[in-house]
Amino acid sequence: MIGTSDTAHGFIVRTMNADEVNLTIEWAAREGWNPGLHDANCFRAGDPDGFFIGELHGEPVGSISAVAYDGQFGFIGLYIVRPEFRGQGLGLRIWQHGIAYLGQRNIGLDGVVAQQANYRKSGFELAYRNIRFQGIAEAGATNGPSLVDARSVPFDRLAAYDSQFFPAPREAFLHAWFNQPEAVALASVVDGQLRGYGALRRCREGRKIGPLFADDAQTAETLFTALAAHCPGETVALDVPELNSAAVALAERHRLTSVFETARMYTKRAPDIPLARLYGVTSFELG
Ligand SMILES: CC(C)(COP(=O)(O)OP(=O)(O)OC[C@H]1O[C@@H](n2cnc3c(N)ncnc32)[C@H](O)[C@@H]1OP(=O)(O)O)[C@@H](O)C(=O)NCCC(=O)NCCS
Repeated sequence: MIGTSDTAHGFIVRTMNADEVNLTIEWAAREGWNPGLHDANCFRAGDPDGFFIGELHGEPVGSISAVAYDGQFGFIGLYIVRPEFRGQGLGLRIWQHGIAYLGQRNIGLDGVVAQQANYRKSGFELAYRNIRFQGIAEAGATNGPSLVDARSVPFDRLAAYDSQFFPAPREAFLHAWFNQPEAVALASVVDGQLRGYGALRRCREGRKIGPLFADDAQTAETLFTALAAHCPGETVALDVPELNSAAVALAERHRLTSVFETARMYTKRAPDIPLARLYGVTSFELG
């Protein structure tokens, strides 16, 4: 799909170029979402055709990402209209364009509280809440006996581990995510077996940890502690599925407090993901 236009009213929705993804990330920062410094490049690797911009008389006014991971699953994010252009029906037009791009796929999103009723009207159902926990990273060991740089683990093994926690293949995105500038990516390997992995990335303010996937609470603790120890004294955030009480306990043990929440919603059945082993969501924009 190239674009839907309504030239009579000077409004068009079309696929973004790379610079425009950066612009949208700037809008996300103004919303207080504290995006990662290199999110635009990584996100675009997920599906270069899945980012749409709304233009009014040639001026960019709003955005949506509608990332098609495969034929069955997609994820909506970056649904933003610049404040001065809200309430004129432009957002809904951009939304409809993104939804049409994803077609019959099961679509996920992380919805802010203010938009959840709208998403229900659009056919999304609540699966669970994600809570953003944030605090100050503690000093500590940056390594541990089982920890290795995740980039030293054969990529196909990491991708296979990841596939337990994500409903669709996302190799191109993951590769970009692990290799973004200043990222720290650690894996726990015990007796040759991958037991978990996590990534830390630099954001507008401090850092975020995500994803954080682990076979058990101790592995998650080891990964979290070592990742946070790479940025002692900085703000660090972890987005936790509320249903995972061990993940909530981990965040609270490290004196992070809840600062934001989203509703994880889907248009079809919630994917069968082991939430008890999901300690940190990768991102609210791409799932
Ligand atoms: C959410 C946002 C993009 C909506 O853009 P907008 O241009 O103001 O919305 P519109 O003017 O097109 O809305 C027109 C109508 O459609 C509704 N609507 C908007 N998006 C909708 C959706 N996804 N599903 C169903 N209804 C929707 C609106 O509530 C409104 O209904 P009303 O006429 O009964 O009041 C905008 O408010 C925004 O940028 N908010 C801040 C960023 C944010 O929180 N984004 C959501 C993150 S999950």
